[in-house]
Amino acid sequence: MPKLTSHDRIQRLTALNRAAELGGGQERIDRQKAEGKLTARERVELLLDKDTFEEIDKFVTHRCLDFGMQEQQYPGDGVVAGHGRIDGRLVYVFAQDFTVFGGSLSETNALKICKIMDLAMKMGAPVIGLNDSGGARIQEGVMSLGGYADIFLRNTLASGVIPQISAIMGPCAGGAVYSPAITDFIAMVDKTSYMFVTGPDVIRTVTHEEVTKEQLGGAMTHNSTSGVAHFLAHNDEECLLLLRELFSFLPSNNLEDPPKKPCSDPWDRADEALDKMVPAESNMPYDIKDVIHAVVDENYFFEVQEYYAKNIVIGYARLDGRPVGIVANQPAYLAGCLDIAASIKGARFVRFCDAFNIPLVTFEDVPGFLPGTNQEFGGIIKHGAKLLFAFAEATVPKVTVITRKAYGGAYCVMSSKHIRTDVNLAYPTAEIAVMGAEGAVNILYRRELTGAKSVQNARQEKIEEYTEKFANPYIAAERGFVDEIIQPRDTRRKLIAALRMLDSKRDTNPSKKHGNIPL
Ligand code: HXC
Repeated sequence: MPKLTSHDRIQRLTALNRAAELGGGQERIDRQKAEGKLTARERVELLLDKDTFEEIDKFVTHRCLDFGMQEQQYPGDGVVAGHGRIDGRLVYVFAQDFTVFGGSLSETNALKICKIMDLAMKMGAPVIGLNDSGGARIQEGVMSLGGYADIFLRNTLASGVIPQISAIMGPCAGGAVYSPAITDFIAMVDKTSYMFVTGPDVIRTVTHEEVTKEQLGGAMTHNSTSGVAHFLAHNDEECLLLLRELFSFLPSNNLEDPPKKPCSDPWDRADEALDKMVPAESNMPYDIKDVIHAVVDENYFFEVQEYYAKNIVIGYARLDGRPVGIVANQPAYLAGCLDIAASIKGARFVRFCDAFNIPLVTFEDVPGFLPGTNQEFGGIIKHGAKLLFAFAEATVPKVTVITRKAYGGAYCVMSSKHIRTDVNLAYPTAEIAVMGAEGAVNILYRRELTGAKSVQNARQEKIEEYTEKFANPYIAAERGFVDEIIQPRDTRRKLIAALRMLDSKRDTNPSKKHGNIPL
């Protein structure tokens, strides 16, 4: 063997790097592009600040000797992993490369992902996974399944310690869906991504249902029907920019505060339009997002799960430059009633914010829990209790604004004073009562009204009497359940003053292994 020169050695490294960067080869890359998808490396580049990506395990290869696999080696083995920066902040990232064995998860591929997750935990930095994979590497059998389970364990242990974000940018089938499901947020790319536990073929065989991949597990399905996903992007670029935006609201770990941004919006900006936003008529709908936009910095609200359970609105905004999590009933949809989907959506969001030191601002206009056999049989009792549990256990600064209805159990649930909310404000239009006037009169005066000569008039009189007496915020204010009744135009100033006051808040829960939220 001729002795290798330094030049030869450098050439070898260059060639190996080139091979790794070519993934499964130009032909497969072209196929990926033809489908409108970026490559794994392009995605990582777009996600991170320019030239900040440092790759780890670029030359790792699989160890499979079956099915002629020893002849098929691709350095990197189908996943690009490493770390970089977003807005200058450290983040760990992995991107599955569909051009190498369909991005399928091998033993070594899983080891790479676990390695960066372990580093992320040590460093207290978020992990972002860009998923595009045919699932378990079929040739590797249980080695691949073990690799998945190793990732699931790390996802679980990291939950509540570092933010974990998943983008689904291609197929995601079988057990592969469970890692994203444990992470905090899932973004999906419309038309090119899908997620399901069992695909259309298996469903056809077992239940004889005909369903397409898109209908079963496409981006819109999971954004609007199942609630599995939190964001929908129209293409890869949009998805990656969206992840960067989300990242800007989150701290790097549970010991840090979320990053502040310089704010040019005056902290005490009054908005007269707010005085007219909530209609005087109790049953008239309005869009709570108009209120949110009017109040927050630069009127910018970053909505989460926009298409799911629209009767509750959740998302991030900044007040005085500080990120806050907003939870708001939406009177423009199902009159803002709380149902199963809304309760689950709200509860998970509240728990994320609490885990990551993001103050909670709640806008409340809720006529109660949605009645019906559907809801009761579906377990609204335990699902509604999730939201109650989440708000009650949250120790981050909590501020609530009751804009109109705060009825019944929903009054208690929506971050009421009784469950440790720090500052409770109400508009003069607030109605804080056990139920609406009509319902109350129907129950309280059933017998009396049945006998009355002019039922309609007598009923109306009672409704007016009840409304006058109970449909206001003053009784709650007399008890101290509401700290202040504010002019709507002053909402921003009042919220910021409350959050400034709460900046040094310290509160804890009793020591325990963990609570038992009603799942
Ligand atoms: C190995 C795989 C693979 C896999 C795809 N490929 N999936 N290799 N293991 N799981 C390879 C293909 O052989 C092909 O190789 C290349 O990836 C592209 O695949 P195509 O089928 O040509 O692509 P496409 O038509 O776009 O279809 C994509 C797909 C399909 C829908 C993902 O490949 C598919 O159904 N794959 C199998 C999905 C699956 O059943 N996975 C196991 C799920 S069970 P070449 O060489 O031709 O480029 C599971 C259990 C985990 O994941 C449990 C954890 C708890």
